[in-house]
Amino acid sequence: MAMKKLYIGSLLGALLVHSLVVELAICSSNFTDQLALLSFKSSINFDPNNVLSNWTQETNFCGWAGVSCSRRSQRVTGLILRGMGLQGTISSRVGNLSFLQVLDLRNNSLHGHLTDEVGRLHYLTSLLLTNNMLEGGIPMDLHRCRMLRLIYLTKNNFNGSIPKELSTLPFLRYLALGENKLTGTIPLSFGNTSSLQRLVLQFNNIHGRIPTELGQLQNLQTISFTDNRLTGSITSCNF
Ligand SMILES: *[C@@H]1O[C@H](CO)[C@@H](O)[C@H](O)[C@H]1NC(C)=O
Ligand SMILES: *[C@@H]1O[C@H](CO)[C@@H](O)[C@H](O)[C@H]1NC(C)=O
Ligand SMILES: *[C@@H]1O[C@H](CO)[C@@H](O)[C@H](O)[C@H]1NC(C)=O
Ligand SMILES: *[C@@H]1O[C@H](CO)[C@@H](O)[C@H](O)[C@H]1NC(C)=O
Ligand SMILES: *[C@@H]1O[C@H](CO)[C@@H](O)[C@H](O)[C@H]1NC(C)=O
Ligand SMILES: *[C@@H]1O[C@H](CO)[C@@H](O)[C@H](O)[C@H]1NC(C)=O
Repeated sequence: MAMKKLYIGSLLGALLVHSLVVELAICSSNFTDQLALLSFKSSINFDPNNVLSNWTQETNFCGWAGVSCSRRSQRVTGLILRGMGLQGTISSRVGNLSFLQVLDLRNNSLHGHLTDEVGRLHYLTSLLLTNNMLEGGIPMDLHRCRMLRLIYLTKNNFNGSIPKELSTLPFLRYLALGENKLTGTIPLSFGNTSSLQRLVLQFNNIHGRIPTELGQLQNLQTISFTDNRLTGSITSCNF
């Protein structure tokens, strides 16, 4: 009898430990997302429409303006704050939103660098930052976001050259880098980005030859190159 009680006792103990571990795991995962969002908020120094005013710890972050979450695991999958007049920088902690799929901060006044931590967003499909004042290089680590389909960085102050690693993204459809301060040449390897539909590079300072390799891209519909220092032409039945 005593043996049986002992057995049940230790079984209950094991169950308690087990559920505690599960709970800790759940808490730590969504706590990371909450911290990342609060860090995003704290690097915004002007929010004229008070969109971030309900980003407080009193409410679940999945209900915060502009935030969407996966229903089951309550992880952040979308951060969408378009045209809100936000001023400030993009916190590198955004790279901790491990399940983020869409980052859409178009039409704001964000400045500073887009840091390499963005490369940790392995589920990111859409990086939409058109029309801000972001500067510095396009992060090299962006090619680690293997799910990326849309990269919209048009109308910022990005400089340096186009990372050739971006050409290895297997699903990349739109690469819009127009109206920045990009230099260097168009990497030849983009001739291998077979998923590419649109390549927008106008109003930069890109020079050199337009790679004839781009003519191999079966899905390419639009290329815009105007106002760069490019030479050559593309000869292919696709154009
Ligand atoms: C974390 O997840 C748990 C369980 O789903 C939930 O009860 C809790 O409110 C969440 N915490 C935050 C800060 O959202
Ligand atoms: C926060 O604000 C947004 C937009 O105004 C609203 O849709 C959302 O329900 C609010 N969330 C909470 C928790 O009050
Ligand atoms: C989040 O990101 C920052 C900087 O990118 C890092 O220092 C920190 O350890 C990360 N993890 C958590 C759980 O916040
Ligand atoms: C951004 O602003 C421009 C000009 O005001 C507008 O034409 C465009 O539709 C806006 N884009 C988004 C995604 O809000
Ligand atoms: C890009 O701009 C930054 C300032 O934002 C500057 O420090 C850096 O040297 C520039 N890089 C290139 C390659 O022009
Ligand atoms: C394109 O891919 C082929 C086959 O993988 C490879 O041999 C070639 O070097 C690549 N071209 C460039 C410019 O990267």
